[in-house]
Amino acid sequence: MSQRAVAPNDLEAFWMPFTANRQFKSNPRMFVGAEGMHYLTSDGRKVLDGTAGLWCCNAGHKRPRIVEAIQKQAEELDYAPAFQMGHPKAFELAARLAAMLPKPLDHVFFTNSGSESVDTALKIALAYQRAIGQGTRTRLIGRERGYHGVGFGGISVGGIVANRRTFGTMLTGVDHIRHTHDLERNAFTRGEPEHGEEFADDLIRVIQLHDPSTIAAVIVEPVAGSTGVLVPPKGYLKRLREICDQHGILLIFDEVITGFGRLGTPFATDYFEVVPDLVTTAKGLTSGVVPMGAVFCASAIYEAFMNGPENMIELFHGYTYSAHPLACAAALGTLDTYEEEGLLTRAAELAGYWEDAVHSMRDCPNVIDVRNLGLIGAIELEPIAGEPTKRAFAAFLEAYERNVLIRTTGDIIALSPPLIIEKSDIDVLFDTLRGVLKSIP
Ligand SMILES: Cc1ncc(COP(=O)(O)O)c(C=O)c1O
Repeated sequence: MSQRAVAPNDLEAFWMPFTANRQFKSNPRMFVGAEGMHYLTSDGRKVLDGTAGLWCCNAGHKRPRIVEAIQKQAEELDYAPAFQMGHPKAFELAARLAAMLPKPLDHVFFTNSGSESVDTALKIALAYQRAIGQGTRTRLIGRERGYHGVGFGGISVGGIVANRRTFGTMLTGVDHIRHTHDLERNAFTRGEPEHGEEFADDLIRVIQLHDPSTIAAVIVEPVAGSTGVLVPPKGYLKRLREICDQHGILLIFDEVITGFGRLGTPFATDYFEVVPDLVTTAKGLTSGVVPMGAVFCASAIYEAFMNGPENMIELFHGYTYSAHPLACAAALGTLDTYEEEGLLTRAAELAGYWEDAVHSMRDCPNVIDVRNLGLIGAIELEPIAGEPTKRAFAAFLEAYERNVLIRTTGDIIALSPPLIIEKSDIDVLFDTLRGVLKSIP
């Protein structure tokens, strides 16, 4: 019998994603449990979750409804193919989700992640344009500093340089509009910035350059998260919608982080009162418990595919694990939890308290901007000269030592706690962070 001996604490084999592997492995940080607002570390500490895991555990951790739903589902039906077969929970979930979004977003395509949702939405957009006789519309437009996951589609329309530069030329025909960050005019704004609606007009420049007849869709995050929280200027998203409408271009909102209550409304489309043609989601859909994503599309898009012989597959796309029974069960348990506890609007109740707390960081050392919306916060630090990201990473490590989990991107601290957070937790989070910023170089 050949059996490879593996040392119990061998950290070498796991190539960790988006991680400084060597730094981590020299001084690992391990979570071994989680409940409510806290993680439990391998050295027995309770760590306050300031980031809902990775913006996903919106209902908090170890929620009974979700745990029970998964346990029951594993016993009842472990797996069912979604190609040419179905299982009841997939349809129940889709109908329930469709009812949550504004009309006409009433069809749902299931995936397993935000990245897959983005690829799915981009593919549906291209295939739709072709289906309606607009096959010359093959270009996809993203935005600088956008994050749309890590598939080739997502990094092509994405605009975070480090996520793109080593991966070749990616999808052809993609272009980008400018980002909306304007420190000079908008620093320390509470909520939506006053200045920058006109940044949406950069789409007109791109349209004029390529001609509208070549452009299928524009994809943006309503609030850009991974780049370090960029809140859209007032009127910006409405303007983007108008420009897309004028030119027959589909608008895709990537709501992977804003979906499921992050802004105090079920979705950002509700918050900004702008209805896109497609919406990508994941994360909060199952409160992060089982991987799952969902793409919502307008009825006209779905209907455009529903022609030809009835025995023909209409869209040649899908995943082995689309609508996986465990994921559907987790999502239904999550939606129950959100509903019973009013979590999809809870951020609205806490937003004022949260905003004051985030902006109380303004006077801490090296803070050059503070931003917030719903239950999202960002604290932008002045980078150490010649050593970008070092200051924020030091803050991350120090916060962890002080039992608080934060997330950093570049030199920006991003905060997005579970929606069950209490005011007392908010106090602990920011008191700790204040200490952290005073203690690091
Ligand atoms: C806006 C947005 N889109 C897509 C993704 C990718 O999601 P995933 O990591 O589940 O593939 C993320 C992840 O953070 C995201 O924030």
